[in-house]
Amino acid sequence: AKQEQIRNFSIIAHIDHGKSTLADRILEVTGAITSREMKDQLLDSMELERERGITIKLNAVQLTYTAKDGKEYLMHLIDTPGHVDFTYEVSRSLAACEGALLVVDAAQGVEAQTLANVYLALDNDLEIIPVINKIDLPSADPERAKQEIEDVIGLPADDAVLASAKSGIGIEEILEQIVELVPAPTGDPDGPLQALIFDSHFDAYRGVMISLRVVQGTIKKGQKIRMMSTGAEYDIVELGVNTPAEEKRDMLIAGEVGWISGSIKNIQDVHVGDTVTAVDNPAPEALPGYRKMNPMVFCGLYPIDSARYNDLREALEKLQLSDSALEFEPETSQALGFGYRCGFLGLLHMEIIQERLEREFNLELLATAPSVVYHVNLTDGQQMIVDNPSKMPDPQRIQTIEEPYVKATIMSPADYIGPIMELCQKKRGDYINMDYIDNTRVRITYELPLGEIVYDFFDRLKSGTKGYASFDYELIGYKASKLVKMDIMLNGDRLDALAIIVHKDFAFDRGKVITEKLKDVIPRHQFEIPIQAALGGKIIARSTIKALRKNVLAKCYGGDISRKRKLLEKQKEGKKRMKSFGSVEVPQEAFMTVLSMD
Ligand code: GTP
Repeated sequence: AKQEQIRNFSIIAHIDHGKSTLADRILEVTGAITSREMKDQLLDSMELERERGITIKLNAVQLTYTAKDGKEYLMHLIDTPGHVDFTYEVSRSLAACEGALLVVDAAQGVEAQTLANVYLALDNDLEIIPVINKIDLPSADPERAKQEIEDVIGLPADDAVLASAKSGIGIEEILEQIVELVPAPTGDPDGPLQALIFDSHFDAYRGVMISLRVVQGTIKKGQKIRMMSTGAEYDIVELGVNTPAEEKRDMLIAGEVGWISGSIKNIQDVHVGDTVTAVDNPAPEALPGYRKMNPMVFCGLYPIDSARYNDLREALEKLQLSDSALEFEPETSQALGFGYRCGFLGLLHMEIIQERLEREFNLELLATAPSVVYHVNLTDGQQMIVDNPSKMPDPQRIQTIEEPYVKATIMSPADYIGPIMELCQKKRGDYINMDYIDNTRVRITYELPLGEIVYDFFDRLKSGTKGYASFDYELIGYKASKLVKMDIMLNGDRLDALAIIVHKDFAFDRGKVITEKLKDVIPRHQFEIPIQAALGGKIIARSTIKALRKNVLAKCYGGDISRKRKLLEKQKEGKKRMKSFGSVEVPQEAFMTVLSMD
């Protein structure tokens, strides 16, 4: 293909504004797929993705489009994940493009993640083409959406295409604007090879499959390549493009987007954001911007059936192959036995991994409450990194504890300013500012401890604003806070997996809430169980689970065996997500209870 007839673009949008629907429609109009072939939302291929309606993994599709100027253009549509947990991956896939379609829902207007994605696109110097989608909706207000794009984002929106991805309105116009406005790639096809890795996954037969954008030079079948950050070298066995069906090619030139495979068995050699170069005539330097992703949220995962500890390790290893951001290491808990401490990019990432472990590997797991990573400055001048509350050192050894903070942007109708501020205050937020987007909508900025929002912040924000608020955040660094470790004791014994880090001023209230909640969540036993919350050696709250009066089996009078068995089975069912701690059975729910506020 001639370079000047190549166009590489992504679609960016707030969740649910119609990115996937628009992508499908573009594939259809360009003939990449016929409507008959079209499964809804083809680009989102993972089962889990489809169920949750969110885009997690990236994909790139090559399209051909004959424009009104009579020329045939080769286009690459690169899909981006929409959730804040995957910001780095979004940024890398945007780096593989020259332009981005900015989809804004005509009824909703600009939302928090619209903005966040626009900033990422601007960071990557992309040409941004606004598209007002869902104009078929009765509640659509395209003029207001245009105005918001100009006022909030600062992009001219006069020529924004008015589209309906659902009804197929405006799709050609969008393609024409891509041809006209998105610059063709540059980069010398004869220069030293530089190709950006923006995605990878593991194929059972071919090893690691790499999605890349050739930025300079030409990548060829049979060529010996090197990963610039790891130094790993491989021979390219196959390369090609997705149309969206996989098609093999002999080479990809500067400007093209495709995939390569090279019998790569070790996923650790391949990092999203790294540069691929050729071993003969290597590029002097890598493309800018590669960074290693550090997990932000940690939790312990324990198999309910301790005999499946090794299965859990194998499953985690397999998942890590296609998800290099996942980290894990063995951990033992007095209460829960052998398991793994796992690190995730965020809470959604954590939920996805847990769900995949259970579904794809048939594991039953108990997850402890998620924790962020604390920096603990000790009195001896050392700094300790703590990702598990039960590992917090002795208070006497601690000088200060620092916790991660984020800058959160919340956009909402002005009617909900009250509940939003109340929530942020409750979560220890520092108010930064508020401005009006238009007559009815505001943007509120807070600095918040990440540890306070990883759990239920988003759910609470949604319910407090009838679903109208949108939310986005970015990490801004660490700040010292008055934090203490709170222990939970059951029947007089400390349950390490229930320990949490709380702010000193909130400890008393949290202790009360938690002990009360646990009382309701932990089933009654044959004996009375005291539940206590303690700071150091000091008990600050207490509740009691009353003893169960009757044995379930007592009712059967020893007579009816089948009925007895049924009862036992029922009991077992109820125990599924329980772990016994000494003589106390603790359900999964209990571990999440410690994070709830009221
Ligand atoms: P994520 O993958 O979660 O980021 O969402 P998305 O932005 O890809 O949104 P998606 O395409 O899944 O669309 C969200 C919802 O809006 C779906 O129910 C679509 O059917 C609907 N939708 C998309 N485009 C239009 C449109 O033009 N008009 C109307 N009425 N509905 C639309």
